Amino acid sequence: MTDRYCVFGHPIGHSKSPAIHAAFAEQTGEAIEYTAIEAPLDDFAGAWRDFVAAGGRGANVTVPFKEEAYRLCDELTPRARRAGAVNTLLLMADGGIRGDTTDGAGLVGDLERHGVALAGARVLVLGAGGAVRGVLEPLLEAGPASLHIANRTAAKARALGEDFADLGRVSGSGFDAVEGPFEVVINGTSASLAGDLPPLPDALFAPGATAYDMMYGAEPTVFLRWAQARGARGIDGLGMLVGQAAESFHLWRGKRPDVTPVLEALRRSL
Ligand code: ATR
Repeated sequence: MTDRYCVFGHPIGHSKSPAIHAAFAEQTGEAIEYTAIEAPLDDFAGAWRDFVAAGGRGANVTVPFKEEAYRLCDELTPRARRAGAVNTLLLMADGGIRGDTTDGAGLVGDLERHGVALAGARVLVLGAGGAVRGVLEPLLEAGPASLHIANRTAAKARALGEDFADLGRVSGSGFDAVEGPFEVVINGTSASLAGDLPPLPDALFAPGATAYDMMYGAEPTVFLRWAQARGARGIDGLGMLVGQAAESFHLWRGKRPDVTPVLEALRRSL
């Protein structure tokens, strides 16, 4: 039986993961099947059990199941434990489940591919929800001089900063207390979904700064347009998406696919 993998979400209709993993499988010569499964909102565990019974060996997990998937795991990578959520499940030989979160590695890898230095940089992260919590450990491990988290609800940013304070110089505040300049500004809010922009000071960017939006689309996001108009270089999150998929694929198959050609093909298809 072909090893089966999938992405669980709700809704899941427009997921790009099946196309990405099909490209990785072709590139590496791994014979796998990868599909998108809409799990019922009230029975994620049941959907996983059914999938395993049908030959499932591992899965990606997206909104809204990342925390529930975390609770199902028998073993967690340190970064997943810290994130409190997983985007990757692996069925172990003893039937147990190992969980990892690969979004942060995807983000840091994409910044590296673009030649953006995190080491020694002053980094600003916008947002304090699950998406941001999931990437903080890899970001801090890249060695920024400082990392400030700004959020609409200031208390959430401060609490998140305290949770990660052992990993580096981290602080948190509301948007009104943000003091630039920063070399790297990462938007991890879902504000662009609503076409909104966090209220930010104009003098945010150091010369040559990079603005990164974890979201992506056929057109630049509101945040990227705002940042580019203020002299920053703009990068969207499509490379992070392909990068996190590559990390999951590596966990499952022990092979690391080349992200670049898959990203280029995906970009052309947007
Ligand atoms: P995710 O999993 O995408 O992180 P989440 O946990 O609901 O989803 O977090 C959404 C983030 O986007 C939060 O930081 C939220 O700010 P609050 O904590 O104040 O709610 C932020 N956000 C959502 N809509 C926003 C908007 N219109 N302007 C600014 N921030 C917004």
